[in-house]
Amino acid sequence: MPRLTVIGTGYLGATHAICMAVLGYEVLGVDVDAAKVERLASGEVPFFEPGLPELLVKALESGRLRFTTSFAEAGEFGDVHFVCVGTPQRPGSYAADMRYVDAAVADLAPHLHRRALVVGKSTVPIGTAARLTELVRRLAPAGDEVELAWNPEFLREGYAVDDTMKPDRLVFGVASPWAQQRLRAAYAPVLAQGTPAVVTDLATAELVKVAANAFLATKISYINAMAEVCEGTGADVHDLAQALAYDNRIGGRFLKPGLGFGGGCLPKDIRAFLHRAEELGVGQAVAFLREVDDINKRRRARTVDLVRELVGGDLSGVRVAALGAAFKPNSDDVRDAPALDVASTLQQAGATVRVFDPAAMDNARRTHPELSYGQSTMEVARDADVVVLLTEWAEFREIDPVALAGMVAHARIVDGRHALDAARWRAAGWEYRALGRP
Ligand code: UGA
Repeated sequence: MPRLTVIGTGYLGATHAICMAVLGYEVLGVDVDAAKVERLASGEVPFFEPGLPELLVKALESGRLRFTTSFAEAGEFGDVHFVCVGTPQRPGSYAADMRYVDAAVADLAPHLHRRALVVGKSTVPIGTAARLTELVRRLAPAGDEVELAWNPEFLREGYAVDDTMKPDRLVFGVASPWAQQRLRAAYAPVLAQGTPAVVTDLATAELVKVAANAFLATKISYINAMAEVCEGTGADVHDLAQALAYDNRIGGRFLKPGLGFGGGCLPKDIRAFLHRAEELGVGQAVAFLREVDDINKRRRARTVDLVRELVGGDLSGVRVAALGAAFKPNSDDVRDAPALDVASTLQQAGATVRVFDPAAMDNARRTHPELSYGQSTMEVARDADVVVLLTEWAEFREIDPVALAGMVAHARIVDGRHALDAARWRAAGWEYRALGRP
């Protein structure tokens, strides 16, 4: 079994390191952030991910998982090095910020004294692997003995453990049979379950990842565009989506209308894809992604409009109970969160917004100190003029509309995620509104 290092212990890296150790590999997690390394080494997962804390304890107890800040130690230890650092949007541009990926490779390479495989897992612009191959060979004492491969990661926050242990597929972007054989060895237990592996060249592997996220974003914006059409025609997008979903060729997943997509991946990935495609002279092929982004942004503005309409046209002094802050349920991630965007726009328009989220309160407070926060649904709903459901957590879906009606000043709700049973809420005396529904 090859010994693995995982460079970057954020969402992707920490999950990968922990799961690989549980699967039986000796793993060294590497990060430049000493505080993060210390927390992980003491058994604490620094973000919310169901099931991961238990696996971290198990992996540490097995003695197969350690963490370090030393690249020298990583170079000495590893046969296969996974690069899992972030590629956020570059400020003031659509391009991906490559500084962390470049630094990870540049810091590791001088410590590679023997044959090793460096495997990129980060989401990157097409052409990155070719560029990094040059860099690693120039900086590594082992020179051409070091190879680079690309192995994109498709895990979803909230399902990260399952997506890592039982992925739909593995993609191995390789430049040689040796690299393929090393990757197969590094994923032997996953392949043994029958997981399909698609072997490609480096550029295709890079493209698979952005193409997948762009497709998912397009599917969401497609149904949200249909919601806009519904708003203009009096049709009901909820029923429309349901009817479309029964067609197996279309399918119901990622076809849920509402407030649209956010998070640290989909929005920045479609923008980076647009930027890179333009650089490569094929911008026209993905120009529609700009429209996908615009449709998605309009959903946030339109949700604010719906709240304004529901309270009679003026938001000043209106007390809003905002349910949800995370960009999706089962996550504490508030990066580009539609929920917080809407809450903050309502507040700027004069409303007093109180937010509750089951997991993302600390992160929300940090990024949006201008909003006020409560400890429960009932607390933020007390005396509210309008309730806005912004993230479809299970505990919000299960709210008893009769009980909630007893807390609020006015029983008015905007269901930003099409998560509630409209008929049941209306029967309990609520004025219920959702985008794309009459
Ligand atoms: C996404 C992809 O799903 C993963 O496959 C990929 O690995 C990951 O990005 C990444 O690039 O690292 P994630 O950002 O965790 O995963 O979240 P998703 O579950 O894809 O949801 C993205 C957004 O779409 C959320 O804001 C969600 O609320 C929204 N969404 C999803 C909708 O608005 N409608 C839907 O029908 C489905």
